[in-house]
Amino acid sequence: MSHVFHRSTRSVPLTASHGSGSVIFDKSGRAYLDACGGAAVSCIGHDDTDVMAAIAEQTGKLAYAHTSFFTSEAAEELATVLSASTFHQLPKVYFTCDGSEACETALKMAHGYHRERGEPQRTHIIARRQSYHGNTLGALSAGGNMWRRAIYGALMLPSVSHIDPCYFYRGAKQGESPEAYGWRMAAQLEAEIVRIGPENVSCFMAETVVGATLGCVAAEVGYFKAIRDICDRHGVLLVLDEVMCGMGRTGTLHAFEQEGIVPDILVVAKGLGAGYVPLGAVLCRQQIFDSFRDGSGAFVHGHTFVGHPVACAAALAVQKTIAAKNLVQASARQGDKLRNLLVERFGQHPHIGDIRGRGLFVGLELVEDRATKKPFDAVLQRHAAIKQAAMEQGLLIYPGGGTIDGRQGDHILLAPHYIVTDSELESIAVLLSRAIDAVMPC
Ligand SMILES: Cc1ncc(COP(=O)(O)O)c(C=O)c1O
Repeated sequence: MSHVFHRSTRSVPLTASHGSGSVIFDKSGRAYLDACGGAAVSCIGHDDTDVMAAIAEQTGKLAYAHTSFFTSEAAEELATVLSASTFHQLPKVYFTCDGSEACETALKMAHGYHRERGEPQRTHIIARRQSYHGNTLGALSAGGNMWRRAIYGALMLPSVSHIDPCYFYRGAKQGESPEAYGWRMAAQLEAEIVRIGPENVSCFMAETVVGATLGCVAAEVGYFKAIRDICDRHGVLLVLDEVMCGMGRTGTLHAFEQEGIVPDILVVAKGLGAGYVPLGAVLCRQQIFDSFRDGSGAFVHGHTFVGHPVACAAALAVQKTIAAKNLVQASARQGDKLRNLLVERFGQHPHIGDIRGRGLFVGLELVEDRATKKPFDAVLQRHAAIKQAAMEQGLLIYPGGGTIDGRQGDHILLAPHYIVTDSELESIAVLLSRAIDAVMPC
C-alpha cells in the first residue's frame, strides 16, 4: 500500500528505478525511451556526471544557507550566466523552486514595480486563453485553461482577463495570411487594455511558444513585435513565460530570441535544472529592479528555499554542459529531423491534423476529420489512450486534452532530450506510430 498521495487517487504509477541518456528504467528493468523529458524538463540525459559531481561538491561544502543571511557563489554565478544569456538586457535574477512559483513571483514583481513607481492601481493582468502558467492560485488565475481553472473558480483572482492565443491552425479565417492573423490577434491585446483602462493594467503574460495546453504552438511572424509595441505604448509590462519552451527547448536558449523582442520579465524553470533539481528563475529589466531599489528598498516576497545553493550549483553545471556540448544547436538540428520524420510518417495521416513546434518542442494535433478539423469526442480521451499505448511500446510522450477550448481537442507533445540521437529519433517515430495505430487504426 502506497502512502503517497499520487496524481490519480485510484492507481499507483510504476516505480522508476534509474536512467541512462534518454532512457528511464522501471523497477522491473523495463526501458522507456523518454521522448518528452517528463514534461519538457529533462534535456541533457538522466546521468550527466558533471551535474552529479556539482551537486555532491556543493552539498559537501554547504547544503543550505537562508537568503536573508547569505548569498552563495553558486547563486551568484548562475545569475551572472543567465543575465549574460540575455546580453544583460534582463540583468537581475530572482530564483524560485519551480515554474508556478516563478510565474507567481513575476506577477507580484510586475505589481510591485507599478506600486513603487506611484501607480498602485495597475493591478489588472491580461493573459491568453489556452495558456498554462502553473497551479498556484495566482498563476492558475493567469492561466487560460478553463478546465484546469473550473473547479477553483471561487478562488481565482478577480482582476484577470484573457484574450485569444495566436493559434493559426484553428483561429485563422478562410484565406487569412499568417501575418494578418497575427496582427488581428495582437490587436485584441490593445482592445482589452483600452477596455480595462491602460492606467489599471499591470502586465500581459504569455507563453512565447504555448506548451502543455495547446501542444507547441508558436505565434505567427510579427505577433510578438506588435505585442511589444502595444505594451510599450500603454506602460504595460510584457511577461513571457518560458517555463516549458525556454532554456534551449525551441532551438535558441530563450524562445523570445526568435521573435526579435525582449520581454520586461522572463520566467524560466524546467530545463534550467534539467530535472536534476527543482529550480525556477525570474529575470527582469534593470529598471524593474531599480524601481524597488529606489523606492521601498525591498520586494515584499520570498520563500524559504529561494536561491538554494545545491539547486543553483546543479543548474550552473547543467547550463555549462548545454554550452560546452552545443546542445541548444542540437535542439534546433534534431528538432528539424524529428519534425521531418513525423511529417513523413503522419503528414497524410487521417487523424493527425497538424504537426508543429520549434526545436525539440513538437506537437501533433489529433482530429477525427482532417478536412474539417473536427476533433474527436472528448469522452474518448484519445490523447490519454495514446499515452498508455506508447508506454506499452516503451515510449514516454506528453499528451494533452482540451486543446481547442479546455474541453475539446487532443494533442501529443514531444520534447526529447537535446542529446537525442538520430536512431532514437527514428525509434520515437516508429513507436509513436505503433501507439497511434493501436488506438486509431485506419
Ligand atoms: C508554461 C508553464 N508555466 C508554468 C508551469 C508551472 O511549472 P511547475 O509545474 O514547475 O510549477 C508550467 C508547467 O508545466 C508550464 O508549462
